[in-house]
Amino acid sequence: MAQTETIDGVLLSAAMDLKSFYGLDAAAGGGTVRLFNPDEVTDPQAIRFAVCWLPSKEAFAPYPNLEMAMSIGAGVDALMSHPGLGSDTMICRVRDPHQADLMAGYAVHEALRHLRDFPKMEVSQSKGEWAPLPMEAPEKTRIAVLGNGTMGAAVTRALSVLGFSVSVACRRQPKDPLDGIIYHAGEGAVQKAAEDADVLINVLPLTGETENILNADLFDRLADGAWLIQIGRGEHLHEADFEKALDSGKLAGASLDVFRTEPLPSDHPYWQDSRLRITPHVASDSTPSVVADQVIQSGRELAAGKRPELAIDRSQGY
Ligand code: GLV
Repeated sequence: MAQTETIDGVLLSAAMDLKSFYGLDAAAGGGTVRLFNPDEVTDPQAIRFAVCWLPSKEAFAPYPNLEMAMSIGAGVDALMSHPGLGSDTMICRVRDPHQADLMAGYAVHEALRHLRDFPKMEVSQSKGEWAPLPMEAPEKTRIAVLGNGTMGAAVTRALSVLGFSVSVACRRQPKDPLDGIIYHAGEGAVQKAAEDADVLINVLPLTGETENILNADLFDRLADGAWLIQIGRGEHLHEADFEKALDSGKLAGASLDVFRTEPLPSDHPYWQDSRLRITPHVASDSTPSVVADQVIQSGRELAAGKRPELAIDRSQGY
């Protein structure tokens, strides 16, 4: 029987205890994919991969033989822009269907809350008032979804089941398009998808190309009084343009789950703005058991000399 190769990795996070949260340790993968906290590493030269969430600036420096850095989330922007990660180091992500379902749930919740005006009904309830509100067939509402990766596709699927008119901006036309959904691919796709949208949902990955993509030009294309659901990354939002769009009424408001600075500072004016719904980067999260399995799978693939299935295309940035 072929000997299973052992591979060693290090857990790097300035924000959380990856070892206890994911149960990743020296016994992971039946002892074949061994993971260590930095203070447990006895031979830094033997470390071939890193499992990361927001690693510190110097985190990679002690490990000269790193071949792969794996994000424990869907987003790899913090690794792509990390100054200490060699440009030839492979980057992997987690691809978690449960995380995509959570994301879809958040997006649908925020869209319906706004479209059906549930906050108004809560006010009526507090006054003991029976005050039905008018409603429209979902197909009359245009929703633009920016992004059609694992997360974006799940959001679109959920909205489509509910009967909304959805247009999607994607890099290339999907192989498995959903019936009734309009897909815009390539150059100008984001702008085309946003045209006359009542709700704009951002699920794009953060790259050099998508930074500040939620800007005045895009907001101008929306229907008046549109609602933004921002579940990508804080850097997607051009904040000055956003504030102008709110003040002009172009945007009625927004659900913001991600911010340029996280946690959002307690004195940030967005907290007090009644047009905004602020949530603390909780639109979705990866499932610990899925993360652990995918880390082990990627470590095994690397040990076997294969390119891990979850490796991203660094030239595209996701
Ligand atoms: C969450 O933001 C993720 O990148 O998984």
